[in-house]
Amino acid sequence: MGTPAWEALSRHHDDVAGAHLRDLFAQDPSRAREMVVDAADLHLDLSKHRATRETLRLLVEVAEAAGLRERIDAMFAGERINTTEDRAVLHTALRLPRDARLVVDGQDVVADVHEVLDRMASFADAVRGGSWTGATGQRIRTVVNIGIGGSDLGPVMAYEALKHVSDRDLTCRFVSNIDPTDVHESTRDLDPATTLFVVASKTFTTLETLTNARLARAWLVEGLQERHGLSPEDAQAAVAQHFVAVSTAAEKVADFGIDPQNMYGFWDWVGGRYSYASAVGLSLMVAIGPTAFREMLDGFHAMDEHFRTAPFDANAPVLLGLLDVWYTDLFGAETHAVLPYSQYLHRFPAYLQQLTMESNGKSVRLDGSPVRAATGEVWWGEPGTNGQHAFYQLLHQGTRIVPADFIGFVEPVQPLADPEGGAADVHDLFMSNYFAQTAALAFGKTAEEVAADGTDPAVVPHKVMPGNRPTTSILAQRLTPSVLGQLVALYEHTTFVQGVVWGIDSFDQWGVELGKTMARQLVPALTGEAGLDEHDPSTAALVARYRAGRGR
Ligand code: F6P
Repeated sequence: MGTPAWEALSRHHDDVAGAHLRDLFAQDPSRAREMVVDAADLHLDLSKHRATRETLRLLVEVAEAAGLRERIDAMFAGERINTTEDRAVLHTALRLPRDARLVVDGQDVVADVHEVLDRMASFADAVRGGSWTGATGQRIRTVVNIGIGGSDLGPVMAYEALKHVSDRDLTCRFVSNIDPTDVHESTRDLDPATTLFVVASKTFTTLETLTNARLARAWLVEGLQERHGLSPEDAQAAVAQHFVAVSTAAEKVADFGIDPQNMYGFWDWVGGRYSYASAVGLSLMVAIGPTAFREMLDGFHAMDEHFRTAPFDANAPVLLGLLDVWYTDLFGAETHAVLPYSQYLHRFPAYLQQLTMESNGKSVRLDGSPVRAATGEVWWGEPGTNGQHAFYQLLHQGTRIVPADFIGFVEPVQPLADPEGGAADVHDLFMSNYFAQTAALAFGKTAEEVAADGTDPAVVPHKVMPGNRPTTSILAQRLTPSVLGQLVALYEHTTFVQGVVWGIDSFDQWGVELGKTMARQLVPALTGEAGLDEHDPSTAALVARYRAGRGR
């Protein structure tokens, strides 16, 4: 921004912004073959973007002018690129192979990572094999992960995505919200004797997680006494068998009453939203097993290597990140849809919301000066085909530009023949929608084509499909643990690329702090122990109404 490369891109935008995708394909039919990238096992089609090969070249120049190469190298080397928290950003070290070596501040972080992974694997095998039992000697049937934000969204997304490789004799549940209904509904039908809690919190100070952990502990101790006849002392001692922790804060874990031997650590160079490949993935590892978990890590690593080594003009995260900048800053796009054609990926958009919006929802640059362009799109989405019957209308005919990522798989995870489908199985019916939607969004249907169908002339304008709606198609052979790791790393690095171009710190999240502090301060006002005078008139009136409703 403000560089000659950016000026050149802006001028180029003036030339291509008015072009329709129909014209771009007519002028350059080979773009379907040429504007594609293969990254590890992912195939990405960028040809349905409102961009030419010249656009991509100019975008790469913008990235070079922003120092992307140096920033990538600095991140992978463990430099403290999260400057506002003075931390390295090394989630890529979580998936380095055992024989790699990366020394940061005199410490071989790869050895540390694999030491924890090995401990996690022993624990996961013990739970899965039944040698780790609850206090009554029964094997564990349900793992309840208690965490929020990065300590919840990654594990739950990946558990749902990889359910088909999980041990179906074990179930994972995820409690995150401090709304007491969450922990209540997640435990009400469980037997404490067969339930294991994983309390996941990087800081081990998060109000929601610690409150839910306390509620769970009380539920366990009470339930073991009432339903299994344990003495109060034995029930209390049973916490050690039914609670493990995942955290960077060993002392706080011990203060909570969890045996440090049952704590799985990670490091301050792992950001919460970049953490589920660390011990934060413990519940996932119990569900899918250490082998599948390591396959997932290998997938992450394959994408890390692609990002680190591929030239920018053939680098999937670089090009996707730059295209996001292109739409956000030059077309004024405000949102970005992610539309997985896989029901197993139904939590993927929610996961990406934290990854992208907590990372890039910033309005000052690294040096504290205001940003020079819009940052951080609003990410949202739902799996296809459900979204088609809900919000795709706006994508097709609305007035806004919404770049969208379509994620699909060649092979079905659950192959099912349709008794009346002829040669087509149900996956064919499903994926025909994936292909049809991006084609309809790109090319639409003209007034002439609509009229040629014999449409009432008064209705023709309503049926015109403008097209020219940009999409990325991401296609992989099958949703495996490795492919899931590749997808997550793809978006992690895409987010990083945007942050570098915008000149912001994508790894802090100061914006979430004020609300937390104010919530803590408001509690006495809600209970009636404190007055309302010090609060703004609107908040005071709302709290007064709440108090009245609760008879306070
Ligand atoms: O409040 C935001 C946040 O700090 C996220 O960045 C983080 O993922 C989440 O809270 C949970 O934090 P912790 O893992 O420390 O409980």
